[in-house]
Amino acid sequence: MTQATIKTSFTTANFTSLVCKECGAEYEPKATHVCEFCFGPLEVSYDYEAIKRKVSRETIAAGPNSIWRYREFLPVATDNYIDVGTGMTPLLKSNRLARRLGLKNLYIKNDAVNMPTLSFKDRVVSVALSRARELGFTTVSCASTGNLANSTAAIAAYAGLDCCVFIPSDLEAGKVLGTLIYDPTLMAVRGNYDQVNRLCCEVANTQGWGFVNINLRPYYSEGSKTLAYEVAEQLGWQLPDHIVAPCASGSLYTKIHKGFQELIKVGLVDDKHVRFSGAQAEGCSPIAAAFLEGRDFITPVKPNTIAKSIAIGNPADGVYALEIAKKTQGNIELVNDAEIIEGMKLLAETEGIFTETAGGTTIAVLKKLVEAGKIDPEETTVVYITGNGLKTQEAVQGYIGEPYTIDANLDSFHRALERSQVLNRLEWKQVLV
Ligand SMILES: Cc1ncc(COP(=O)(O)O)c(C=O)c1O
Ligand SMILES: [Zn+2]
Repeated sequence: MTQATIKTSFTTANFTSLVCKECGAEYEPKATHVCEFCFGPLEVSYDYEAIKRKVSRETIAAGPNSIWRYREFLPVATDNYIDVGTGMTPLLKSNRLARRLGLKNLYIKNDAVNMPTLSFKDRVVSVALSRARELGFTTVSCASTGNLANSTAAIAAYAGLDCCVFIPSDLEAGKVLGTLIYDPTLMAVRGNYDQVNRLCCEVANTQGWGFVNINLRPYYSEGSKTLAYEVAEQLGWQLPDHIVAPCASGSLYTKIHKGFQELIKVGLVDDKHVRFSGAQAEGCSPIAAAFLEGRDFITPVKPNTIAKSIAIGNPADGVYALEIAKKTQGNIELVNDAEIIEGMKLLAETEGIFTETAGGTTIAVLKKLVEAGKIDPEETTVVYITGNGLKTQEAVQGYIGEPYTIDANLDSFHRALERSQVLNRLEWKQVLV
């Protein structure tokens, strides 16, 4: 079957309205994200009976090899969605990392190789820009901690949309360059992400642009549900026992939960209690702090961590993430910058995956939870790796080895090899001490 025939077989929208998560007020599915009555966030609401009639494991398997195989669960009204091959990233059964941690059934969802810009943000942006086009926007924008700017600029370039994105001015070189190459207008704001976000809310009110994570946020956030669908499908249409995911605004974490619930609702998987654990960096851990202190409200913080991509001090979905952690008997843990670097190195050395600081945070939290006995070794645990280490090289500079620079002759090679072997033996001694 060609992709064109698959696309034309899907014709109608399954989403009916936007609904306030707090008071239930209903809104037309336009570019709006805040309830006029109670200021609660709006969320896309679906006709699950319609979805149930349309989808089966077989129709999904016959769909595109991208997030759009789950199109019936996504908030687009036409078949003119933007498919740049986003999604269907590998779910690896961990071997050496699992053994190192003492886990029997650990899986790694590897969005460090997501397309086109090597982070899970390609999922949310593919959905947001597809909806932006349907709603008639010709300029798109976002407030970003880095990865979102990369995705928005790249996918806007592909779709022929004008693009102006906003980031804090102190981001890693790879994040800045990885945005500029697509030739958007890039605003590097002197301030942290929360200040960037506040500015963008003001700009959104005056410019008439589609901000993927502001006025298009209800659609954008739905893209993260595909991280739930893919894992379920890749596990042979089963849900895991436990997931560990990073939390910045808390959107990704809450939407993975929504994704699993939807699969249960339409009968694609059996009902199951999945535990949800979240990861934050100590230098920006408002959700973890609330969880660990037993609070049901978030106190905003000023970020100070190497994990810049998840440095959101005032998380929009923080309370919903807290609720899910409590409801599912999960945990939200924090780790410091040294542990984050160790987490990045551990994943690279054991599984050959170079993740960025957000992934280092997630791996370090996974390790901490295992050591605290909060993950059962037998549980099927999925750890979500959401970004690529090539974009945050500064974080590990000085903490990893250096090359042996040698002359182009055997003698020089042999001397360097001997030095490396001595060093290796020393390292082993240190491990054994
Ligand atoms: C690599 C990476 N992982 C995780 C997140 C967390 O996303 P969310 O704001 O949905 O919690 C972000 C973005 O903020 C990110 O860039
Ligand atoms: Zn409301």
